[in-house]
Amino acid sequence: MKWNAGLYQDKHGYVAEYGKELLEYVADDKTQIILDLGCGTGELTNELAQKATVVGIDGSESMIRKAEERYPQIEFHVMDACSLKWRDYFNVIFSNAVFHWIRDQQSLLKSIYHALKTEGKLICEFGADGNISKIQKSFHDATRKYGYGFTSPFYFPTTHEYKQVLEQAGFNIELIIDYDRPTALKDGKFGLRNWLKQFFAMDLSNFTMDQQIDTFETIEGHLYSDLWDGKQWVADYRRIRVIASK
Ligand code: BEZ
Repeated sequence: MKWNAGLYQDKHGYVAEYGKELLEYVADDKTQIILDLGCGTGELTNELAQKATVVGIDGSESMIRKAEERYPQIEFHVMDACSLKWRDYFNVIFSNAVFHWIRDQQSLLKSIYHALKTEGKLICEFGADGNISKIQKSFHDATRKYGYGFTSPFYFPTTHEYKQVLEQAGFNIELIIDYDRPTALKDGKFGLRNWLKQFFAMDLSNFTMDQQIDTFETIEGHLYSDLWDGKQWVADYRRIRVIASK
């Protein structure tokens, strides 16, 4: 997926806002070295930098350039999370709202395992089973009339499934939970279509502008009774939260 770093930072700031709760699991200890995996524009990386030495990586060049511009004192790299270049190096690998973009979880967890020191911790949160299920179903239904066969690109596991994946990769699980986290989208009545423009950009690129507008209107109609709270759109997010050690 090609990220629009400007739109992301402007309209989807809540991604980092919600990630702040996850920061509470990270100890204040200046001797630690932390990797922020999938750091985006670097807001949480900067929060982590108050606690420890931190390095941020992201697969998107535009996100990393924005992060470097905002926080020039922090080390950032464009890097594939499945091919981390470090061995036995980090005390903590932290990641918020990223793992669901990565299909090959075995490679991801292998890469993280190698990059962690012994007893180092993976602290992460991402989309759980059922995450954005109403939005995805509605997108599927609204685009079918154009002959489009939408299939979800995301990985949203159950806790049961993900526990097995972590254990197979060699991790000891300290915490694994899932929970509903309804998420208010910015920009009033335009919130849902802005969210779709950001995160379903690849799928939307298959349609003309008129078809895209029709798709937004159809989805807004479908979801109005479930996801419009009278003032704003509230996306049906579900999270899985994990703490696991090497
Ligand atoms: C999420 O954070 O759950 C998410 C965001 C964009 C697309 C899919 C999921």
